[in-house]
Amino acid sequence: MGMIGGGIGAFIGDAHRRASRICNDYELVGGIFDADQEKSREFAVSEGINLTRVYKNIDEMIKKELALPKNERMQVVSIVTPNALHFPFAGKLLKNGFNLVCEKPMTMTVSEALALEKLVKEKKLTFALTHTYTGYPMVRQMRDLIKKGVLGTIQRIDAQYYQGWINSIIYGTGSRITGVWRLDPKHAGVSSCMGDIGVHAFNLIEYTTGLEVKEVLSDLNSVKEGIKLDLDGTVLIRFSNKKLKGVIRASQVCGGLENDIIISVYGSKGSLRWGQENPNYLYHYSDTEPTKIYKPAHGYNMKNAEEAHTMPAGHPEGIYEALANIYKGAAKSIRKKKFDPCEFPTVHDGVRGMKFIHSVVNSNAKGNVWVKV
Ligand SMILES: NC(=O)c1ccc[n+]([C@@H]2O[C@H](COP(=O)([O-])OP(=O)(O)OC[C@H]3O[C@@H](n4cnc5c(N)ncnc54)[C@H](O)[C@@H]3O)[C@@H](O)[C@H]2O)c1
Repeated sequence: MGMIGGGIGAFIGDAHRRASRICNDYELVGGIFDADQEKSREFAVSEGINLTRVYKNIDEMIKKELALPKNERMQVVSIVTPNALHFPFAGKLLKNGFNLVCEKPMTMTVSEALALEKLVKEKKLTFALTHTYTGYPMVRQMRDLIKKGVLGTIQRIDAQYYQGWINSIIYGTGSRITGVWRLDPKHAGVSSCMGDIGVHAFNLIEYTTGLEVKEVLSDLNSVKEGIKLDLDGTVLIRFSNKKLKGVIRASQVCGGLENDIIISVYGSKGSLRWGQENPNYLYHYSDTEPTKIYKPAHGYNMKNAEEAHTMPAGHPEGIYEALANIYKGAAKSIRKKKFDPCEFPTVHDGVRGMKFIHSVVNSNAKGNVWVKV
């Protein structure tokens, strides 16, 4: 595996490296870890990576990797840079035959997303998009229980993703320096809150239910004078079944909240709720039976959930293992082994995410009207 981004002080690159090690399928052999070459090399030394495989830029990386014997060169590259760089790096790498693991939001625009989807199809490559929450065993259990029909008719879907960390940036009270690019349209795109976290909530809805959001009506809030992008918002959602409705609520300014993503799917026979801050508990509510709590590593779970944990029951697993499950699915695909579609989000999920983000921003800009996704 090669990596682009994820150098010293970066947030998610470190989690990707740990995840790739947990699933035992990858070895990090090189990359471009920082825009500053010296820092990139400094990082490589700290990881024990051979400096001959720390590259100045993407063209050099592709050229030199392709010159290596096939069994030595990078088979997959993980892109963990700020949003604006995903597309230029991903496009060049796909054209040259590299499989990818890529961070979300996948691109800056819908047309870039469609271009990547076309390339992945043409080149028959693996593209795993790291909507990390889909890697949790109890999210996979939720998906398969819904597929089995335990909820009856789905009548309402709610997903929320609340954080509070941006308060310290916009009011200048915190010390966090990474992540500030999320407020800059040049690096983040058309949205901060919906692009960074609302899109995870949207993805969880489509992942767990298998349904597509067809229309959105949004009300976004940039919260403070001078802030160019949304930091908070509410999105009403509609599906092809006109009798099914829902809501996505996301915020980066809920003081004190950490990473409060919750998905609830309500049906005629019962409801399921999962939240990432207590990820080993999946709640199943019913009018006729006591509330059930599903937990990982029990024989009562369905196959995909059972395969997504490594420790025996009662040993909590979390975000690293969830991300590792996505890496594991991508490795199966790269190795042409059998895998279930739930094992990693694809370039198509990236296209859906970009359509969601842009529809939500358009709905708000047009005066909070219904917009087709
Ligand atoms: N899946 C998730 O749950 C999740 C969580 C956090 C972040 N993310 C996504 O991951 C991406 C990175 O976010 P982050 O918080 O880690 O950002 P970050 O600012 O902490 O790290 C970005 C890294 O990219 C490097 N970089 C910047 N320009 C570069 C260039 N030209 N060449 C090589 N490296 C370069 C930086 O030096 C840094 O190491 C974003 O797209 C974000 O949306 C996803």
